[in-house]
This record gives sequence, structure tokens and C-alpha cells, in this order.
Amino acid sequence: MFPVGGLLVFYGLLAQTTAQLAGLPVPLGQGLPLPLDQALPLALTPAQPSNPAHLAGSLTGALSSGLLSGNLLGILGDLPVLDILNTGGGTSGGLIGGLLGKVTSAIPLLNNIISIKVTNPQLLELGLVQSPDGHRLYVTIPLGLILKVNTLVVGSLLELDVQLNITAEVLAVRNNQGRIHLVLGDCTHSPGSLKISLLNGVAPLPIQGLLDTLMDLLNKVLPELVQGKVCPLINEVLSHLDVTLVHDVADLLIHGLTFVIKI
Ligand SMILES: *[C@@H]1O[C@H](CO)[C@@H](O)[C@H](O)[C@H]1NC(C)=O
Repeated sequence: MFPVGGLLVFYGLLAQTTAQLAGLPVPLGQGLPLPLDQALPLALTPAQPSNPAHLAGSLTGALSSGLLSGNLLGILGDLPVLDILNTGGGTSGGLIGGLLGKVTSAIPLLNNIISIKVTNPQLLELGLVQSPDGHRLYVTIPLGLILKVNTLVVGSLLELDVQLNITAEVLAVRNNQGRIHLVLGDCTHSPGSLKISLLNGVAPLPIQGLLDTLMDLLNKVLPELVQGKVCPLINEVLSHLDVTLVHDVADLLIHGLTFVIKI
């Protein structure tokens, strides 16, 4: 690694450096403690970051717990999946035409479904990415749930595992009074981020067609259904984040400073 001729010089430097390190008052690798005057007033918000590197973790942590205390799992558990399938996407008129045009056999097949129950709603670890210009954040919210589909075909309860990522864009804005806020920009599912798989093995032959149609329909309506329920909640959570956290994050975003470190 080192040329032989340089070895002696290297040893000399090493000895000198070691001596210097030994003389340092604060050992390396032992994080800087918070100054007392900063630590005390923040006693109520224990996750308070002392430097930008911790800010990303504090933000995802706060968003995560905000989503959970805002009843995210309850909202997922109450998704009216069968209703949406029956109305072909509910309020958006365009979708009905689109669905019926593509899957003309859907309606008779849907008559074979007695109920669709959502179980095991899950929020996995949030992801955070900063835009190249540093002014925006993209929060990935990975959601999971299981659909228990009860059909008229005797003995065929289908269990579908559903994974979906919602991506929320977060921006810093200054209001009329000059106060900065974090607001929700685009909120959508990442294309191709919906994964549906059959949990209990292979579907019995009589319902294979039903299963295919069901998967097709779910692929079309689920992302919008989930987005429609989850995005307003994200907006709500953003507006109730800890003031200091919001201020620290917004300040960096406004100045386009990078604080989300990719590993
Ligand atoms: C959701 O995003 C994460 C990265 O944040 C990725 O690892 C995962 O595969 C994605 N899930 C789906 C269902 O696409």
C-alpha cells in the first residue's frame, strides 16, 4: 500500500498523530453533547436533532407516528374495497367507462364475491429522498394489507397480499405573516408500486377466472382509493408537526441545503 521508501515517514507521522489524539480533550467518536441551554427547553421533544444528519430521521419518525396516531391503520382497515369495485371507481365517471370497456365480464364475476375484508393493515418504514435542487422532499409511505375475499364458490376464501407505496412531495412555503410551513405537494402512488399476490397457494380452477378479473380490477381502483384516504391524512399530519422540527426542516429546504443523506 505504501512505497517502502515512505514507510519510515509514515511511521513518524503516525506516532505524531497518535500523540496529538491522546492530547485531545474530547475523544473522537463520542457524539457532541447538546449544550445545556439547548437541551433543557427541548425536554418535551426528545427526538430533537442536534445536527442536520439527525433531522431526516426525526422527520420520518414524526411523520410515521403522526400517521399512526391519525388512525392510518384504521382507515386502511375500513377501505370500502367491494363498494368501489361494484361502482367501478366511485365518483370519477371516466373510470367506470374505462373499467367496463376493458373488463366487460367484470360485473357477473363480481356477483360471485360475497365480501372483501381488509385485515393486517401495516405501515412499513418510511423512505425519504431530497430533490436534486434541495428544495423538496419525497416521502415514500409503504403500506401493506391483506384482502380476505369470500366467494360464492364453496370453500374458496381468497387471501390477497397487497403492498402499495404512496409518495408524498413535501415543500416549504412562507405564509403572509412570514412564517414557514411544510405543505404537501403531489401525493400519488409510485407507478408500478402496487403489488398484489395470492397468499393461500393456487386458486381452485373454478375461481381462477374470478381471481384474474379481481386482480385486474384491484390494480385499477386500489391505488386511487388508498391515495384518496391517505393523502388528506398526510396533509393533516404535516400541519401538526412539532414547530421546531418544521422550522429546522423548512429552513434547510428554503435554502436548498442537503440534509437527507443517502446510504
Ligand atoms: C416501496 O418502496 C421501497 C423503497 O422505499 C421499495 O423497497 C419497495 O419495494 C416498494 N414497494 C413496492 C410495493 O413497490
